[in-house]
Amino acid sequence: MKTLGFLGAGRLAQMLAPKAAKAGWKVILSNSRGPDTLAGLVQGIEGDVSAATPADMVRQADVVILAIRWPQIEAATSGLDWRGKIVIDATNNRLGPKPEDVIDIGGVLSSDVVAGHVPGARLVKAFNHEPIPVFDQSLPPQGDANVLFLAGSDAEANAAVAGLLRDLGAEPVDLGPIDQGGKLIAIGGPLANRFKLYTLPDAKAAIATT
Ligand SMILES: NC(=O)c1ccc[n+]([C@@H]2O[C@H](COP(=O)([O-])OP(=O)(O)OC[C@H]3O[C@@H](n4cnc5c(N)ncnc54)[C@H](OP(=O)(O)O)[C@@H]3O)[C@@H](O)[C@H]2O)c1
Repeated sequence: MKTLGFLGAGRLAQMLAPKAAKAGWKVILSNSRGPDTLAGLVQGIEGDVSAATPADMVRQADVVILAIRWPQIEAATSGLDWRGKIVIDATNNRLGPKPEDVIDIGGVLSSDVVAGHVPGARLVKAFNHEPIPVFDQSLPPQGDANVLFLAGSDAEANAAVAGLLRDLGAEPVDLGPIDQGGKLIAIGGPLANRFKLYTLPDAKAAIATT
């Protein structure tokens, strides 16, 4: 059994945690206010689900997902031992869905900013390219629109994340190194915010035009 740790226990975590637990992953949730504040949430999710401090969660998790908002990243990640850890960057540099909610980060790739906060981690970009309700309704997929993208520069980390996506019922499509593939699914990227998942042939066609 693999362990998926969530740094942050808000909307994204609450959507994904039950699906991962149902798919056979051990799930650990964490937030800034302590595991006790997550007791009700943990109780409401079926499966091997628990809460821990962020430090204990990072220690135990095979894969950690950053499920915190952009302004929270620095405080949430600091002081934790990220060395060698497979970390999914699900964050986007925005505060909400509107264009004016995008936080200006001066043209750099958001994952490069995130990478600076998780030194030594093997960062994989995933779960950021559609709004939460799209992931919620599409996992497990109803039909053949089942593609979830990932991008990362560490083949073993990409494979581990692809395994998680597959366990959730999706067809993982690896877009390659984070500084190339990650751009395709970052805010404004050609594969982001379609408001539905791609089928595999459609994803391949879309990638070919990028
Ligand atoms: N909205 C979407 O459709 C969508 C889609 C894809 C990806 N995303 C990305 O997903 C990320 C999470 O979004 P969300 O909507 O789930 O946010 P959210 O509901 O506001 O949840 C944020 C969580 O982070 C926790 N947190 C805050 N400060 C923390 C700290 N210092 N240490 C540990 N935990 C901390 C909060 O709990 P406490 O305050 O109790 O600590 C809360 O559980 C964002 O980066 C967003 O861009 C969003």
